[in-house]
This record gives sequence, C-alpha cells and structure tokens, in this order.
Amino acid sequence: MSESFSNDYLLYAPFPTASTLAQWLQESNGITRQILSNLAAEEQLVPQLDILNPPLWELGHLTWFHEFWVHRDGQESRPSFMKNADYLFNSSEMAHQDRWSTSMPSLDSLLEYNHSVIGSTQALLSTPIDNKAAYFIQLAILHQDMHNEAFAYMWQTMGRSRPFAPFTNTNKFEAKVQTWVHFPKSTIQAGSEQGSGFIFDNEKWAHPIDLPAFDIASAPITNGNYLEFLESPENRAQSTPVTPPLHWKKEGGDWLERIFNEWLPLNLAAAVRHISYFDAQRFCEHSQVRLPSEHELSLLMSQKQGAWQSSNLWEWTCSTFAPFPGFSADPYVEYSKPWFDGSYQVLKGGSSFTPDRLKRVAFRNFYQGQRSDHFCGFRTCLL
Ligand SMILES: [Fe+2]
Repeated sequence: MSESFSNDYLLYAPFPTASTLAQWLQESNGITRQILSNLAAEEQLVPQLDILNPPLWELGHLTWFHEFWVHRDGQESRPSFMKNADYLFNSSEMAHQDRWSTSMPSLDSLLEYNHSVIGSTQALLSTPIDNKAAYFIQLAILHQDMHNEAFAYMWQTMGRSRPFAPFTNTNKFEAKVQTWVHFPKSTIQAGSEQGSGFIFDNEKWAHPIDLPAFDIASAPITNGNYLEFLESPENRAQSTPVTPPLHWKKEGGDWLERIFNEWLPLNLAAAVRHISYFDAQRFCEHSQVRLPSEHELSLLMSQKQGAWQSSNLWEWTCSTFAPFPGFSADPYVEYSKPWFDGSYQVLKGGSSFTPDRLKRVAFRNFYQGQRSDHFCGFRTCLL
C-alpha cells in the first residue's frame, strides 16, 4: 500500500453517526455470517471460474479488508488477528487463480477472525469517533455490502438457493406502459461535491456536463422485449445470433427462467436480467435505439418516483469507466484506478441485493462488458 493517495477522504463529511454505523455493520456482517454459517461442507467448494471466488476466501478477504483499514491504518507492519492475513486475503496480492490452490484457514477460524475484528469495531463505535475512523468504517461496511451482493450473484450463477433475503421485493414489479421521458438540452452536474457525505474516489469531483436533448425509456427492457429480439428473423439470420441468457431454458415450447435454484415460467413483463453489455448493444442495434450514457441515466434516476420505473438491477450505460476531472485515488487505491483501462462500462442504479446506502445516484458501478453474471439489465434511449 505504498502507492500515493490523497487525503480528500477527510472532506467526505458529514459521516453517519456512530450508532448508524454500528447498525449498518451489524446488518452487513450479520448477512455475511448467515451465508457462511449455513454453508454445507461441499458448498465450500466452487468451480474455478473468473466470475467466482471460494466462499472461505471471500469471508477472509472482507474481514481482512475491514481490519486492515479500520484497525491497522492500512499498514502491513501492524499486527493482524489472523496469521498470514496479508498474504492470504489481500486481493491485490493473492492472484485470483491461486485462491483455489492455496490452503485456507477453516471456516470456524475465519468466523472467529471475523468475530474479533467486527467486535473491535463495535467497541470503537460505542465511543466518540473522528472523521478518519468514520470514513474507514463506512468504507469497510460498503465493501462488505458489495461482497454480500457478490455472494448472491455467485449463488445465482451456481443455482444454489437464495443466500439472504433481498432488500427490495421484486415480486411487486408491475409492468407499466413504457413511455419515453423527454429531457430538453441542459447542463447537469456530474460527480459529487465536497461535503456531500461519503463518496468513492471515482466520483471526484462535481463538474458541469452539457447534455443535448434526449428521450429515455421510463421502464427497463423486459424479458418479453428480449425474447422477441432473440426470436426475430434478423437475429436468427446473423452469423453469430445472440443466444438466450444462461438462466433461461425452453421446455415443451415454454420458456423458463432460473431464479437461484428454482425454475419458474419466464415472466415476460419483468425486467430482463443477466444480459452482457455486448448483448445489450446488439439488442439496441436491432431495435434502432441506444443505451443511455451514465449522465443521462443519472438524470432520469434523480427524478421523482413515478416519473420512471426502477428495474431493481444495475443498468448498463454506454459510458466507459473513466476518471472525472479532478480524480485522485483514495487510500484504497485499487478501488478505481486499476480499472480505467477502457474495458469496463459504468452501471447505475442497484439491485434488490444492494442496500439503500449504496444506491446513491452519483454512485458509479463498473463491470467488464462481457459479464452477465451480476444482477444487471438495461433500458434504452431514442436515437
Ligand atoms: Fe474486495
């Protein structure tokens, strides 16, 4: 962690109160422990794929991350509760493929490590804390929230039962008529301002963007829309037609979709999910529409509820993940900076497994365009 970083994070006030942080931590860590404590021995093993992580490694990693930033000041020279923690659980040092071949501490000892680290933070939160402590505790909680969501989409990938209850009930998804929401030419503010509360470094800093007029769909693309595209003569005539998402199958003429371990009739009115950025682009070409930019989608998502319909998914944008003017890396340098290589696309919104504290409009999620395993969907704009 010798790479230089700025101290801008001290400008990310106001921070939540210690009691709010304590409550968030209890909730987030409670979810992690519930997932891991219910893990059968055979479920500790997962196939070695780029899109998966061994669950025990993930538990060790998120606990190590918390301990490293909250209790060790980001320095390996400070002792850890867990022997070899830096070697085993620093995601920048332990190569992805080595997470399968390196022997890991037992589930019990990792749960004990987690208990010690989180217990120390809960003790810290019963006393007054300064902005620096609040920043790193919030960072560790949000990092854990992201890993909890990753458990959910890994379980979806593997067809395991739902690992924890979603934060939003997607059964309530009612298809409303899709309309085009018109936005006249305007200048908007992208990014986040100092003093607007906790942000990630890739939101630095607020800056004006001139947006030409555009029309964006009030609702996401549905399973029905996507099926129609897949089955269209134009798609079928392609040399490499777009194929159905991996969690769909056709049985006796009926389409089914797998939600975790359950095969259900495909709900044509629900937002289509697990579509890669590249396949979303193919849909757009076929339908003569386009994906919104991150700024266009942010503007829609900052409108009052009722003006647009949430998909409860991360929605792809045509914006390649890149630094804003004024970017400088925060202490966790590996959060954004290594991923500005042009192969990541920005997604906005949040899934039903994303807690509200991560669903700020300014939050920029990012994944490589071929990924479809996370909870992602899309909506479109008129050309
Ligand atoms: Fe991580």
